[in-house]
Amino acid sequence: MEVEVPVKIHGILDFVVLESKVPLDLVEELNQEIDTLSEETDNFSDRLVGQIKNGCQLHIDKSRCETFRKLYSAAESYGILYADKFRGAEKALTSAARDNEFVQAVCYEAWSVNSFSGDYNPIHDHGCMVPAVTGLSFVLWTKIPENMRNLSAENMKSASGMLDGCINFVNGPMSQIGEHEFRPSKVLSVSPQVGKFVIFPHWLNHLVYPFSCEGERRSISGNVGLFVKDQIDSVPGVSEDEMKDLLKHQSQNT
Ligand SMILES: [Fe+2]
Repeated sequence: MEVEVPVKIHGILDFVVLESKVPLDLVEELNQEIDTLSEETDNFSDRLVGQIKNGCQLHIDKSRCETFRKLYSAAESYGILYADKFRGAEKALTSAARDNEFVQAVCYEAWSVNSFSGDYNPIHDHGCMVPAVTGLSFVLWTKIPENMRNLSAENMKSASGMLDGCINFVNGPMSQIGEHEFRPSKVLSVSPQVGKFVIFPHWLNHLVYPFSCEGERRSISGNVGLFVKDQIDSVPGVSEDEMKDLLKHQSQNT
């Protein structure tokens, strides 16, 4: 005789990376502006862990031009969108999940990573601007060499080059037999594409593998602080007018 028994599944949400696309005309504008930056005056490498020995890492200063302001603004919009999507993903797993409590995102720094063969980024996380409750970090790819990675490879065996130039997010095990042991991988690989944008929590470890082909791999990274309603009058370095503009802009995404 068959007996029906009650079953409930408890799953844990480990981390969320939100992926989107930035319009290619903005990508092109950003590349043109980055080309005007100088390694002498805009060098940002003394603040970064990237092992960029053949290329350079340059400060993207919001006050420099309208194109950079558009980047900061887009990152802030994605910051609020991320908070909404994260809470949505939580709700799909548990009825105890909360609503999005963040009303303000402030992108407070950004930089370009202009990489060439052999350059890489070791595993690291990003800081968070105080007094933000928490922070997000982002990557936007603006140039990818044609043969950077082996697109047809299905695994890393025989030095396939499957992940050359890719970013990996790491928050736990990546056992080769993990899927058979009911132990899901907590490593996510993202393949760079021109215009692809990812945003993720500032504490999430990540790394970028080197590549060995000719050409430039260029990405833009930055940090975004998230604020709750009570804090929005007291964000350092952001004027009241800027704050109002940001809130107006973000309301289109909430
Ligand atoms: Fe990073």
